[in-house]
This record gives sequence, structure tokens and C-alpha cells, in this order.
Amino acid sequence: MASVQTSSSRPYHLVIFGASGFTGQFVVEELARTVSEGPGGNLKWAIAGRSKQKLEKVLEQAAGVLSKPELRTEVDIIVADVQEADSLAAMCKQAVIVLSCVGPYRFYGEPVVKACVENGAHYIDISGEPQFLESMQFNYSDQAAEKGVYIIGSCGFDSIPADMGVIYTRDQFKGTLTAVESFLTVGSGPEGGCIHDGTWQSAVYGFSDSQKLQNLRRKFNHKPLPTAGSKLRRRGALFFSNEIQQYSVPFMGSDPSVVKRSQRFLAEEYQSTPVQYGAYAGVGGFGSIIKLIFAGMMFWLLVKFSFGRNLLMKYPEFFTFGAFSKAGPTRKQMEASSFQFAFYGEGYTEDQDPSKGKPNAKIRTLVQGPEAGYVATPITMVQSALTILNETPALPKRGGVYSPGAAFAKTTLIDRLNKHGVQFSVV
Ligand SMILES: NC(=O)c1ccc[n+]([C@@H]2O[C@H](COP(=O)([O-])OP(=O)(O)OC[C@H]3O[C@@H](n4cnc5c(N)ncnc54)[C@H](OP(=O)(O)O)[C@@H]3O)[C@@H](O)[C@H]2O)c1
Repeated sequence: MASVQTSSSRPYHLVIFGASGFTGQFVVEELARTVSEGPGGNLKWAIAGRSKQKLEKVLEQAAGVLSKPELRTEVDIIVADVQEADSLAAMCKQAVIVLSCVGPYRFYGEPVVKACVENGAHYIDISGEPQFLESMQFNYSDQAAEKGVYIIGSCGFDSIPADMGVIYTRDQFKGTLTAVESFLTVGSGPEGGCIHDGTWQSAVYGFSDSQKLQNLRRKFNHKPLPTAGSKLRRRGALFFSNEIQQYSVPFMGSDPSVVKRSQRFLAEEYQSTPVQYGAYAGVGGFGSIIKLIFAGMMFWLLVKFSFGRNLLMKYPEFFTFGAFSKAGPTRKQMEASSFQFAFYGEGYTEDQDPSKGKPNAKIRTLVQGPEAGYVATPITMVQSALTILNETPALPKRGGVYSPGAAFAKTTLIDRLNKHGVQFSVV
């Protein structure tokens, strides 16, 4: 890690808010590990949350796991509660960047964004909730620009691998890339794996009022993005993918919406050709399909009613065949898990006019890394924060609310991730 400049009189470069959460604790460990492995940066950081006691426990645990007893005394604690605006303001005044792990963001995200903008702190989160992400863009872009503050959502597994993966594929392609499809596969060891309840809650609430997102998008009044080359064909709701040799479904997370926002920004700001994007996830063999259909039907049936949502919240393991759980994955499960995004792109070679004829070249790239939610996400979040600190001149000229691809396209974030276990490569 390069030595960071203290660009202000703020006592902390980074403050991890929500450090006592399931994900927050791993972000704390990842930052502590990164700071200690770096070439002696002068980075100052603190952890924040609503319970001092819980935060002390997090430091104690991280000190034990990393064999760094000094963490207990060297890392300061800030008590702040989303429900108390003054406490958020006080936290934001002390930080150059706030890393917020407090979700579901639809409930807890906006007051933190607002406090960051008003008090001049940059902000990143690991939200995978398009409605929250896009409404922050709608509500705070102008204010953030005025203040010179960068608000960058979805810096976790949702949606750094997909968003930066499309940009990487474009940059590696010799010519004009016009379309990319990604296929996500996840692997786990003999003990399996799962996702913590926090993400399940975010998904349940997100799907329950997807109509609001449609209304918000109408308010943006965006023109359709111009497309070059053939129009990317949408695949079916369930199909056998020859690319990854398994049954696949459209990816339901925030990736398509985040990639689209980035491509729009890059086209408007740098006149680059927008890349069309389709996101899919492998579901495995026939047995998995039966489970998926059953779980999907139950979900759609229950998510629209409050009693149904309560059932879904109460019994995540039952309704997802163990894919989500209140306890979250164990460290052993996490160690044996991994993810892989395979990108298949097409476009026109340098000597071919993109406005004429069909695309004449293809490219295949990969983004792969460790367990997605609690190993890869802390890595991408911490590296995003360090990129803001160390490479501010490479961020968009104006402050504002950005997707990762829009914010980091001109930075070395991909190199940083390559050095920390999230690997980008051309096949
Ligand atoms: N992008 C990705 O791939 C990815 C990966 C992992 C997680 N996530 C997202 O991260 C979020 C957190 O997930 P999680 O599993 O870590 O959930 P969690 O364990 O429930 O953590 C929630 C955190 O929010 C804090 N919190 C709740 N209400 C608060 C308030 N009023 N004031 C201050 N803090 C408050 C909690 O504090 P207490 O400890 O005091 O209760 C806790 O630290 C979710 O939105 C999830 O979807 C995204």
C-alpha cells in the first residue's frame, strides 16, 4: 500500500461503519491485514457502530485471528447510530472515507449517505440493492458534486467483479467491444457454504417493491443507450449454457443495473462505445433446477405479502434449501469456497467499422476469487477505499454518486485486486 496523504485535518482516513455486523467483522480483518502487509503506510482508521461493547469484541476477535494484539488499543471506536443524525455527523466529520456495512441499505443507507455528503466525507458501501443505489444517484448527485465528495455504492461482490470485469474485457479487446455476457459459477468444499441473513433480508425487501424501482427509472428520463453491433439477445429464464456446461438462469442481483449505469457514464463522459451486457448464473444439474424452481415459486408467492415476507425472514434456511442462513457460513466453509465470472465478449477489430456488418472478433476473460460474500467482498471494499485515497486525480473530475466502473475505470483498482486475490485474466 502506498503511503497515503492526509488530505485533511480529519483524524481517520477510513472508518468502517457497521463493523459489528457479520460482514463488517471481516472487513475489519481485511483492512487490518492489508495495512499490516503494506509497505508501512501511515493509514489511520477506526471502527464504528451502535454498540461499543460489540465493537470491542470485533477488535478482540480480529486481534486473535490475525495474532495482532495491538489492534485492541491502536484502532479507535466511534459510537454512531443511524437513528441519531448527530452521531452520524460526528462520525463523518472524523473520516476521509466512510465504509458502510450497515444494511439492508433501503432502511439504513440514506442517512449515512446524507451525513457523508453534508460533512464532506467520501462514502462506499457493499449494497446490492439497485433501488437504493439508483435513488442515491437521483437524490445526492448534485450535492455530492458541489461538495467534491465521492459516493460509490456496490463495491462488494455486488458489483465490482461484474462491473470492473466488463471494463477489463473492453480494455483487453483490440478494437471496439460491443457486447458481453457473463456466467457466474460458485464453488464450495465438502462442508458446503451459505450466505448470511443480512443479504437475504436485503433481497426479500428489494423484490417486494420492485415497482418503485421502475418509477424511479422513469424519473431519470434517460435516453436508451446507443448500441453498436448486433443487439444482444436475451436468454431464457432457464437454459443450458454451452459456455459453462450447466443449466443457467438470468442473474437476479444488481450487476446488470450497475454495469448499465457505468456504461452510460463512460459513454457520456468519454464518448466510449457502450457495451451491452447480459448476466447469468450457473445453477448446476437437474436436482438443483428442481430446488430452484420450488424456491423461486415460494419466493414470488410469499414476497408480495407482509405475512409471507415474515415467513421468509424467519426461516431463510428452509425457503432457500440452506443457501441463506441466520448464522452465516463458517470460516471453514468460507476457506473452501470460490467464485468465477466467465465473460464472453464480441466486437469489431480495429480495421473494421463498427457501424457496418456484424461483429468479427471475440474475447474471453475471467474474474475469479475466494468466497464471494465475506472474503472477496471485504477485499473489493478495502481496495476500493484505498483507490479513492491514493488515486483521487484518476477519479471522475467532479464529485458525485457513481457506480464502481464509472468511478474506477481510470484507476489501478484492477491491479490492486489482482494483488489481493481477486484475479482478472484473458483466456
Ligand atoms: N455486495 C455483497 O456481495 C455483499 C456481501 C455481504 C453483505 N452485503 C450487504 O451488507 C449488508 C450487511 O449484511 P450483514 O450480513 O453483515 O448484516 P448484519 O450482520 O445484520 O449487519 C448489519 C449491521 O448493521 C448494523 N446496524 C443495524 N441497525 C443499525 C443502526 N440503527 N445504527 C447503526 N448500525 C446499525 C448492525 O449493528 P449491530 O451489530 O449493533 O446490530 C450490524 O453491524 C447487507 O445489506 C448485505 O446485503 C453485501
